[in-house]
Amino acid sequence: MELLEFCQKLPKIELHAHLNGSLSPETLTVLNTPIEDIKTYQLLTKLDCIEDQLNLAFTLFKIAHNATNMIESTYLATKHVIEEFHKDNVIYLELRTTPRAEPQMTKRDYVNTIIKAIREQNLITVKLLLSINRGHCLKESEETLNLILEMHELYPDIIKGVDLSGNPNVGIFSEAMFIKARKSGLKITLHCAEVLNNEEVKQMLEFKPDRIGHGTFIHPTYGGSTENWKLCSDLRIPLECCLTSNVLCNTVQSYKEHHMCEWVENNLPFNINTDDKGVFSTTLTKEYFYAAHHLNLSKESLYNCSCIAIDSSFASEEEKLKLKTYLKEWKDKHLELF
Ligand code: IMP
Ligand code: ZN
Repeated sequence: MELLEFCQKLPKIELHAHLNGSLSPETLTVLNTPIEDIKTYQLLTKLDCIEDQLNLAFTLFKIAHNATNMIESTYLATKHVIEEFHKDNVIYLELRTTPRAEPQMTKRDYVNTIIKAIREQNLITVKLLLSINRGHCLKESEETLNLILEMHELYPDIIKGVDLSGNPNVGIFSEAMFIKARKSGLKITLHCAEVLNNEEVKQMLEFKPDRIGHGTFIHPTYGGSTENWKLCSDLRIPLECCLTSNVLCNTVQSYKEHHMCEWVENNLPFNINTDDKGVFSTTLTKEYFYAAHHLNLSKESLYNCSCIAIDSSFASEEEKLKLKTYLKEWKDKHLELF
């Protein structure tokens, strides 16, 4: 209980949260989602173990998408998600989402609405990463990228990066688009090695993204190639870890056997995140707790994890300094908790 309390009180940094996977049952209720759909949305938390949990996860997002198919609901959803992270003592949040058109909302409306919700709150520092879905065709992704570049020019202080996400069993990594995004000053984070695919992982690592998400099948213990692991560790690309997401999608055996331990043992940079706190019924507090409990991280290590996450974030140098000062002062005030 004491450890959980520490994790709750610790000011935390969330770097990997998908907006529509982060809607809580309470938020879905506010958005008039039928109760049966809300139960289905969290189906993975109730299943013992089935064959294809990862593919199933990607069908569940449709429920959230139905709830955020208009400007008003997208605004409300963003507001609620930010408030919930704030309540969980998250002091800096990088929210990511895939620009999406609906009959009553263009992709531009969608992004503008999220930016409006971010700007109209002053609870925490929030940055937006825009996602390209690897399952979309090249034409659609290029259209999305053009919108991202335009919106980045308008809101360079909020839109900080581009993410590649979507079902890892579908589609490809189109490097050219990310080169273009990088040239315009955007940071890049790629969902990488969520499934075993050494060829693609090599291509992604050689691109040198600013961060990678999951990285489950990079280390040779999990089927990765020695070459890819060497590249990954030599480059010291920060890893975005999402423990519960991986356990519930059945891509890792258990919390204890999570590949994050390779990053801990080799002193490589990693951060702890929720991924989809709604779908996986988690909080950042719980994720820090699981890391400490199952992977034997001390309270000091958890605190350092927050500090390292600041370095790996896409915030400006000035913002990073402010966040670090805040954390340092928090520690000085709460020495008895350590
Ligand atoms: P949205 O981008 O805000 O609509 O959030 C939901 C979307 O995020 C899903 O449809 C997926 O494309 C993506 N996503 C969420 N979780 C994962 C993950 O673990 N791996 C890859 N993509 C994901
Ligand atoms: Zn993700």
